Amino acid sequence: MRLGLAREVIDWSHALPHQRELLRHTWSSELEAGPTTEAVLGGWGSGKTYAQGMRYTLLALQAGWHEAYGSKRPQAIVVGPNLRLAVRNQLELIESLLPKGLIKQRWHMPQPRLLLQNGLEIHAISADSRYEGESLVLCWCDEIQHEVYSADPTLYTNLIARLRDPKARLRHPRMLVSGLPTAGFVRDTFDRDKDARLFLRLWASKQNTRLAEGIFAEIQKATPYGQEDVYLRGQWTQHPDALYPQYRAELHLVDDPGNRAQPVSIGIDVGNRSAVIIGQRRQVPGTAETRLHVVDEILGDGLSTDELVERFRRSGWLIQPGKSEICVDPTIRRDELGAIRRYYPSVQLLQRERTDQYYEVQTGVRLVQTALRNSSGHVRLTFARHLGMNRRGVIESLTALRFNSRTGGMVVDDLRDHPNDALRYLTCAVLGRTVAAPEVLRR
Ligand SMILES: Nc1ncnc2c1ncn2[C@@H]1O[C@H](COP(=O)(O)OP(=O)(O)OP(=O)(O)O)[C@@H](O)[C@H]1O
Ligand SMILES: [Mg+2]
Repeated sequence: MRLGLAREVIDWSHALPHQRELLRHTWSSELEAGPTTEAVLGGWGSGKTYAQGMRYTLLALQAGWHEAYGSKRPQAIVVGPNLRLAVRNQLELIESLLPKGLIKQRWHMPQPRLLLQNGLEIHAISADSRYEGESLVLCWCDEIQHEVYSADPTLYTNLIARLRDPKARLRHPRMLVSGLPTAGFVRDTFDRDKDARLFLRLWASKQNTRLAEGIFAEIQKATPYGQEDVYLRGQWTQHPDALYPQYRAELHLVDDPGNRAQPVSIGIDVGNRSAVIIGQRRQVPGTAETRLHVVDEILGDGLSTDELVERFRRSGWLIQPGKSEICVDPTIRRDELGAIRRYYPSVQLLQRERTDQYYEVQTGVRLVQTALRNSSGHVRLTFARHLGMNRRGVIESLTALRFNSRTGGMVVDDLRDHPNDALRYLTCAVLGRTVAAPEVLRR
C-alpha cells in the first residue's frame, strides 16, 4: 500500500486491516476547513500507538513548509502523559517510521524535537506543560485515558484550540488521539457518534495479529474481571459507580425527532439552573404498553419560572388540556407553581405528595433505571438522537451521575442534576403505574 504525496511516499504494506482504515481515511470535501479529530481507542496492545504513529508520519509529510511561512516553520507536537513517554512512545516511533533521508535534524533533551526535510518541526511535550507556542498543524495525544487529562480537561481543549495554523497545507489541521476507551473524560469527549468533525474507531486487542506469542494471555491476566470491555474488547463502558449503567447510546438514542402535531407532557425543575424535559408517548409495537420518548429539552441558567415557561412556549411543542401533563418538583415553591398555572390554567399539574412512593428520590431513580432497561431486556424510555449532542443536558446526566456507595444515595452534581430531576418527574408520571414494582400479594 502506498499513500502520501509525490516523492514523499512510504510503504505501509505491513499495516493491519484495522490500521489501514485509519491510514486511508479522508475527510469529505464538503466539510468546512478547520481542525478535525481522528481518535483510535481500544484494548491493550490493539495497535493504537503504532497506527497513530503511521498516521502522524503520513500527515507530517503533507504538512511541510511553503513560501507563505517565510522564515518560520510549520509546527507540530506529540503529547504524552509525561515528556519521557512522549519521546519514547511517540517521537522515536515517528523517527523509526520515516526513511532517514526525510529527517533533517534531531534534538534530544531538554527540548526533544525532529526537523523534517520538508521544514516541519515536531516537538515532544508533556500533557501538563500547557503548550503556549505557535499555532499547530498537527497534534497527537497518546494515552488519553491518563489521569492528567481527566484531572484537568482544559489541557485537551487548549490543545485543540492551538490547531489553527492559517498557512497549514492541511485543509484540516489534525488532532490524533489514542488510548483506552474509559468512562469519564474519555467517553464524555469522544463518544459522539454524530460529530461530523470526529473520526472514531474502537479496536479490540485481538485485532492486533502481530502481538507476540503469549502477549494476549498476559493482557488477559492483567485485566480485572468485569472490565474486559475497556482493556480487551475496546468497547465503551460505564463508570463503576454509574447511577444509570443501563444507559447505552445505541439503545436509547433513536431517530425519532418527535411529532409537533402530537401533545407532549413535560417535567420541570426550576431553580438556579433549570430544565424542562419534553416527552411524548409511544406505543410499544405488538403490545398495549407505553414507552416514553423524550423529544426535546430546555436548559436554563438563572431563569425565573416565568422566563422558563416562556422559553418552553416559544419552542412550539403542543400542550393540550386533557392530554398533556406538567410534572413538577415535589418541593416547588408556591409562587413558582402559580407562575406555571397562570400559563396553563386547565392542564393537569402533577406534584408528588409526601405519601406518594415517587416522592422518594430513590424510588424514582429506580423507575428510570427500570424504564431504561429491565431485566427482561425491555426498553421503555428513549431519546431523540439530537439530544446526545447537548452539553449538560439529560443525556449527559444519564452518563455522568454517580451512585454514592457509602451513603447508598446519589452524588450531588449541581451542574447535571436538574435535567435528570425533570426527567424523573416526567417518567414517574408517564410510566409510574405500569413499570412500578409489583405489590406482592399477602395470603
Ligand atoms: N502493523 C504493525 N506491524 C508491526 N508491528 C505492529 C503493528 N501494529 C502494532 N505493532 C506492534 O504491536 C505491539 C502493540 O502495538 P501498540 O503499542 O501500537 O499497541 P497499543 O494499542 O498502543 O498498546 P497499549 O494499550 O499498550 O498502549 C507493539 O509492539 C507494536 O510495535
Ligand atoms: Mg499505546
